[in-house]
Order: sequence, then C-alpha cells, then structure tokens
Amino acid sequence: MKNIDGLEITENISSKRILDIKIKDEIINELTDLFKRFDLTAIEYKPFTRFTVAKYLDDLTNNELSKYLNNILRDRKTGCFIIGPEKLTGDTDDIFLVKLSTAITHLIGLPNHDSMSGKFYARFHVKHEDKSDSYLRKAYSNLDLHTDGTYVKETTDWLLMTKILEKNAEGGESVLLHLDDWEHCKELFNDPAGRENFIWGSPKSKNVDYKVEHPVFFEDSKGLPQISYIDQFPEPKNMKQGQFLQRLSNSLEGSQNKVIIKLPVGFALVANNYFWLHGRRPFKENDLLIRELLRIRGHFTK
Ligand SMILES: [Fe+2]
Repeated sequence: MKNIDGLEITENISSKRILDIKIKDEIINELTDLFKRFDLTAIEYKPFTRFTVAKYLDDLTNNELSKYLNNILRDRKTGCFIIGPEKLTGDTDDIFLVKLSTAITHLIGLPNHDSMSGKFYARFHVKHEDKSDSYLRKAYSNLDLHTDGTYVKETTDWLLMTKILEKNAEGGESVLLHLDDWEHCKELFNDPAGRENFIWGSPKSKNVDYKVEHPVFFEDSKGLPQISYIDQFPEPKNMKQGQFLQRLSNSLEGSQNKVIIKLPVGFALVANNYFWLHGRRPFKENDLLIRELLRIRGHFTK
C-alpha cells in the first residue's frame, strides 16, 4: 500500500478496488488555516483560487497526493477512492468540506459546469418529502446503478460525491459496480444494440435544454468496455432499443457483485465514471430524514 506522510491509506473493507484515504489531523489543521484565506465567494467567482486551494493540499503531501489520486482513478483495476478528514471538528464544517472537495477535484482535473446549480459544484438535500422530477432526491426509491453526465455534451471522466450532513438516516447506502466485476458485461458489451446511438434527454430540474446522442457502450484505448448509462434519461426509439435497455437494467440491478458502501459524513467518494457505476439504496422511512450531498463531475486535464 502506498505510503504518503499525513495520510492513512488502506484497502476498503468491501472492495479491493477501492482505496480508503484518511487525511490526518496534522494536515487538516494546516488546511483549515490556509482555506480561511479565501471565502466561498472567492472560490465560486474566481476559478484560479480553486487551483490555489488544491495546491495547498498537494503541498502538504509533498505533491504526492495529486499523482496518487490520478493513478487510482485511471487504473482500471481500482478507479475509485474514498477520502476525508480523520476526525471532524468545529473547523471542518460544510464550508471547509466544499473547499476540500474543490481542492481534491482540482488535483484530478477540471470540474464541468453543473447546470442544476449553475456552478462548478452542486449541493442538494435528500429528505422525507420530495416533489422533484428525478430519482436523485427520492429517498425511498432505489437509485439504480448509472453513470453521470449521460445527457450532457461535456466529457465526464470522474465524479465526486461528498456527504456534508446526515441525520436520522437508515439505509441510503452507496451502491457501486465495476464493469469488470459485472457478470454480463461481455454479453451486453458485444450486443450490437448497445453500440447504436441512443437519444438522451433530461427532466426540467437538470436545466439542460438540449438532447445528446451516444451509444451505451464504447471502448477505451485498449479496447476494454466503457459505459455511459442511466435508466431514466435514454429515449428508446423502437422496440429493439427499449428491450435492450430493459435487459441492461435488469442485469445491472441483479448483479451479485455490487459493492455496498456506508460513506461517513465528511468523506468524499470519487470514481472513474466510465467503468464504475453508482447508485443508492432506499432509505428507511423517517419524517426527520436529512442528507446533504455535494457533487462535482469533471474531466481529466492531462
Ligand atoms: Fe449519479
């Protein structure tokens, strides 16, 4: 296992493909001071400050962290990590977590514009009551396995999800599936229907006023399978496409090799978006349920 001063790196208990990275207090204490040089407005209004906070974090690890995170995300064998402060304190509040998430993503690449929030990041709640138009905020429904960015033009190489707050939550675990662990990957990847162009739209809340066309499956530079798929947004144009999507959905949800993760508050889950799928189990009903998440999606820059 990689050794970087100030970090505790271990293999995740549920999957050897996922690395757990705890940032020790010594780094967090310095970071909280450094982060105070910029308020959230500066981070939001001035894109270069986002790289400045990222450099603070990298400098505290002798510039080892950026290399390490990039290696994990691009390595087909892993492609996923969980990272967060060893301990949460009064200083590691929601604003700190926004800055930390900003720093991590700017060590990996560049975030895409998030149309739902109009910023490079989006914060959103999952609560007992919901009137929205997508599964994202439906606490008591399964959020099926999917990748992000299926209905936008931007390349979405990776995604980060940080748990900012959670109260009265039972269930709601993250569910992940690596393509190479999926029992029917080869069969569906080799089905010609999966290589046809599908039309992908999105509901109103996403604020994307165009549709895109792309297949479900494509190949990486080595010919290995990659996927861009979500259940709610493809618009099948005939029976063949409809049946293919149903078969794909059944097969993904039926996989025995899904990884279940209980993400602690303060931690971010970061995954390669073209060979890992993600979803969420339903929560147990509770009037007082509240979870706040932050998400950033982006692309590699080198
Ligand atoms: Fe997602």
